[in-house]
Amino acid sequence: MNTSKPVDPSDLFSAKDLVIVITGGGSGIGLAYATALANSGASKVFLLSRRLEPLEAAAKAINPSIVHPIQCDVTSPDSIASAVKVVESQVSHVDVLINNAGIIGPDHNQVNKAQSIREVQQVLQSDWAKWDTTWQTNTSAVVGVSAAFLHLLDKGNKRRGWVQGKRETQKRDGSASYDAHDQRTSQIITVASIAAFNRKITAGLAYTASKAGAVMLGKSMSHFLAPWGIRSNIICPGRFPSDMTAGGATVFPVNEIPAGTQGEYEDMAGLILFMVGKSGAYHNGSVQVIDGGRLSVMPATY
Ligand SMILES: NC(=O)c1ccc[n+]([C@@H]2O[C@H](COP(=O)([O-])OP(=O)(O)OC[C@H]3O[C@@H](n4cnc5c(N)ncnc54)[C@H](OP(=O)(O)O)[C@@H]3O)[C@@H](O)[C@H]2O)c1
Repeated sequence: MNTSKPVDPSDLFSAKDLVIVITGGGSGIGLAYATALANSGASKVFLLSRRLEPLEAAAKAINPSIVHPIQCDVTSPDSIASAVKVVESQVSHVDVLINNAGIIGPDHNQVNKAQSIREVQQVLQSDWAKWDTTWQTNTSAVVGVSAAFLHLLDKGNKRRGWVQGKRETQKRDGSASYDAHDQRTSQIITVASIAAFNRKITAGLAYTASKAGAVMLGKSMSHFLAPWGIRSNIICPGRFPSDMTAGGATVFPVNEIPAGTQGEYEDMAGLILFMVGKSGAYHNGSVQVIDGGRLSVMPATY
């Protein structure tokens, strides 16, 4: 390693010139990403979710010339295909896709308080139909949306001078102009959850299982997309303020969250800039746990 090279943090942790697609994004963690990325040099940030109004409000609040709302249901292949067409009509490529959309699913928390085996049975069998929508949104959509954007991620590699298509060695196209210090290839980031590793029921079993599935799919993509030069990494947040967690506790004893509180905007902003910046170029198939130490004090598999 050449340690005499100067390190410029503003270049290393920057979203400069990146085209980024985020599912979800009108609230919570997706909005935090959109804000941090648009304010750190991204050229375009497309926000995809079902409700247009929060997306339009986000674009207006951040910067409407950078942030573009697109109505899209990530559980519908037709809706995803329409969103891809809108993105394609505005840009030639995508550098980063963030699979962030998610729902909480049926609540099984009451199992922890049940006083009889009958009660445990009732809780486990409640809202059975909601398992399907939870899986479709949190798990199947990770593959469905990623698949739909692969050709644009491939073109993102071309923009940074990499050869396109299937390869045996990672190499630059000699005729292209590129920044030799920028080793990034296109990237898919999947927002799963520490629920994927947590054995204690804090949300729902469908949520836990769907997020464990999302982690595995993120890892799997890093394997089968390797010959195509597209990276895949995973973020597993602990508790952060959002529509999903609104009304819940914000302060916690250290035996629940050692940091004492839920996470904040700066925590997510710092992580996403590290991941999309040159700083994250060597990350592929990685899982970034950001939870204030919560998994350390829970029965967990991580
Ligand atoms: N906040 C936390 O503590 C926490 C912890 C761990 C993991 N996470 C994960 O972080 C991600 C973001 O959640 P959040 O906490 O920021 O909650 P949030 O504010 O409720 O955001 C979820 C986003 O997903 C979108 N969405 C849901 N279903 C969709 C669908 N079918 N198609 C398109 N978009 C859809 C929602 O928009 P529409 O309703 O308009 O579609 C919304 O923008 C989720 O994957 C969540 O599981 C959150």
